[in-house]
Amino acid sequence: MDCIYLDNAATSWPKPREVITAMKDYQENLGASPGRSGHRLAIEAGRTVLDARIALAELFNAPSPLDIIFTKNATEALNISTLGLLRAGDHVITSSMEHNSIMRPLRFLETRGVEVTVARCSPEGELDPEDIRPLIKNNTRAIYLTHASNVSGTIMPVERAGAIAREHGILFCVDAAQTAGAIPIDVERMNIDLLAFTGHKSLFGPSGTGGLYLRKGLDREIDPLIMGGTGSRSEFEDQPDFMPDKFESGTPNTIGIAGLLAGVRFVMGSGIEAIEERERGLAFSFIQGISSFEGVTVYGPAAAVKRIPVVSFNINGMSPSDAALFFDEKYNIMTRPGLHCAPSAHRTMGTFPIGTNRMSFGFFNSDADVRTAIEAVGELHDYKNQ
Ligand SMILES: Cc1ncc(COP(=O)(O)O)c(C=O)c1O
Repeated sequence: MDCIYLDNAATSWPKPREVITAMKDYQENLGASPGRSGHRLAIEAGRTVLDARIALAELFNAPSPLDIIFTKNATEALNISTLGLLRAGDHVITSSMEHNSIMRPLRFLETRGVEVTVARCSPEGELDPEDIRPLIKNNTRAIYLTHASNVSGTIMPVERAGAIAREHGILFCVDAAQTAGAIPIDVERMNIDLLAFTGHKSLFGPSGTGGLYLRKGLDREIDPLIMGGTGSRSEFEDQPDFMPDKFESGTPNTIGIAGLLAGVRFVMGSGIEAIEERERGLAFSFIQGISSFEGVTVYGPAAAVKRIPVVSFNINGMSPSDAALFFDEKYNIMTRPGLHCAPSAHRTMGTFPIGTNRMSFGFFNSDADVRTAIEAVGELHDYKNQ
């Protein structure tokens, strides 16, 4: 399709050729159910799943591949991390920049006796980790923090928040939906106990892939959301109590995991720092280009190093959905307008309920894409200023 795709924060596109080839190869040559049957194809399918765990463990510096479970997206991983872990009487802290994939399970848990405190971030989406300290109580069980906002692009102080959590013996859960594959993550150095990631964004996997890293031993404190066949301990009617089977009931999305494995290898082969630098350069050129237009407001931190390549902006009070339609119809640019499933983030930025235009850059965007995007914003701005 001939278009400029600037909606990589929703899902990355296009995917590397290797990902498509791996999925095609899997479907044509393997296609079996991993960990179930006794034949060669099933064993090879199981090997693909294990290889994906190994690659992800390496990417996140997890001590063991068995600390990683597969889910269908980051949302499911965050639901396991909240609904599976928290009990009435627990208190948790989160930030005002969170996505609804964390806010909604937490708001639901509030109705079941879990206490939720939301640390307010600045209008740029920044959190001072020291603001967390006074919110900690005797019953604080966990801190839930996004690694980077999908609205303002702000990178959160994960390492410092992790250190505070560790100091107080509190669990630390990070939503890496926007960062896994885009910026380095080290669960050991960052003191992360639970890391929810998605496969279909910066890890270049297909939709329907994602996962959760759990610090060793933590699985014993978490109930699975789904139980059933795992291909292991089939003589028992009780759910297996070991990783990863406890959380992986039912036939997995093996073709998706085969694609995700190729995506993770692509990220590692390209070098995550190189990806980060390239994407940051594109986003920063775009920000510089549109910042010169009068009446255009760009949200998020000014410093390039404080953000991922997700750019939210507004044009002179123009409706973001009208702007998105214009970008699509006149310039063939795919963007996402509105609230981006994160109403609290927009309230923090002062852009609720109208939301923003969001252009999110990816590895496969070019400098020419950036120039066209600047031109498109410039044309709308001229029109609004006439
Ligand atoms: C910050 C953040 N958290 C969670 C999610 C949910 O990810 P998924 O669609 O993979 O469930 C997203 C996706 O947009 C996100 O940007």
